[in-house]
Amino acid sequence: MSIQIPRGTQDILPGTVELWQYVEAQARDICRRYNYKEVRTPIFEHTELFKRSVGDTTDIVQKEMYSFKDRGDRDLTLRPEGTAAVVRSYVENKMFGDAAQPTKLYYIGPMFRYERPQSGRYRQFVQFGIEAIGSSDPAVDAEVIALAVDYYRSLGLSKIKVVLNSLGDPASRKAHREALIQHFEPRIEEFCGDCQNRLQKNPLRILDCKKDRNHELMKTAPSITEYLNEESQRYYDKVQELLDMMDIPFEKDSNLVRGLDYYQHTVFEIMSEAEGFGAITTLSGGGRYNGLVQDIGGPEMPGIGFAMSIERLLLALQAEGVTLPVETGLDCYVVALGDRAKDYAAKLVHELRLAGASAEKDYLDRKIKAQFKAADRVNARYVAVLGDDELDRGVINVKDMATGEQTEVSLSEAAAYITKK
Ligand code: HAM
Repeated sequence: MSIQIPRGTQDILPGTVELWQYVEAQARDICRRYNYKEVRTPIFEHTELFKRSVGDTTDIVQKEMYSFKDRGDRDLTLRPEGTAAVVRSYVENKMFGDAAQPTKLYYIGPMFRYERPQSGRYRQFVQFGIEAIGSSDPAVDAEVIALAVDYYRSLGLSKIKVVLNSLGDPASRKAHREALIQHFEPRIEEFCGDCQNRLQKNPLRILDCKKDRNHELMKTAPSITEYLNEESQRYYDKVQELLDMMDIPFEKDSNLVRGLDYYQHTVFEIMSEAEGFGAITTLSGGGRYNGLVQDIGGPEMPGIGFAMSIERLLLALQAEGVTLPVETGLDCYVVALGDRAKDYAAKLVHELRLAGASAEKDYLDRKIKAQFKAADRVNARYVAVLGDDELDRGVINVKDMATGEQTEVSLSEAAAYITKK
């Protein structure tokens, strides 16, 4: 039996990989404009990092991590998300001491979660994410949301919606936590085992439970917005005011709690409203994590960021019928007839490639008609035809495939002529 790809993963083949390269290049470009610098961290980290940051009682840590022991008996985990690793790197490399502040970083790379695969949900997926660490100015919150929205818009998505909430500061969260315990405790035995465990440890997580989401107590649960203290409310208002000024529409949703524990104040998700996008409509999510740097052993430094998967982005583009301007054609295909001409074709494609053009020739000893077909298949803009006869005369026939126009060019100038065109 042949070996198959692991469940929840995908091969990204030529023909599709160009779309990935395009959106990744656009991501890098928008980060350049917003002044975020790339950081690359390992694919695996100490398991403890995710327990401490994403949170012991979250689904990610309890059910979805690819954790293993290495041969030195260390507990390691394939990263399920990027924020924890970036903050670990920020602390370890003392980036808080850099002259330029806040520290603004981005990453594009694979993440791993053992989830039930379906459209838009994979076990290995690629996140593009940003983190801005070192400022608690609400303008950074607005900037992070603006970057995400601008990126989607610049790629041609229009059916997107920003959903915004505030989880408040630790004092507000504490008051909300107590209200949640009071609300759920009398009937907690009607909830799943996970929720029963979460009641005392982390009742906010109950609101994020997939199993019990339709329980009547969920709808009447106290909302965090009723417990925001004055300072948290002021912060939330300012973020909204800035988004309004930047023409970034949003909807408020006091039930948006996110699935990771490190958030305070601003949280947001961006959803696709395109028809046929599928059951999972969240394109990206993020928020502010003011306590996280300290939890990981660094100084008290506030942070905010977001992440999106490229997989869901491409699904949204498809659902909205957006075609990306991806170029896949070849500059020149060299068709050769006769043994000497074939050898010369090898030299000519080499010259073309050195000059910066993409070039290809036949390697299967095909007849001339089949070589033309091959040129067609790779969408060649020019086809250069060389026979032993042309070789003797020191010329080559260059055909412009768009216009059909044919020009005889001297062999010594062929590469320069085609490259210039
Ligand atoms: P998250 O909401 O867990 O947040 O994931 C962010 C995004 O990653 C999702 O909106 C989705 O696009 C993508 N994603 C997550 N799981 C999957 C999956 N199984 N298959 C495909 N795509 C997936 C975080 O990861 C936070 N680190 C975001 C953040 C950055 N917060 C602050 N800074």
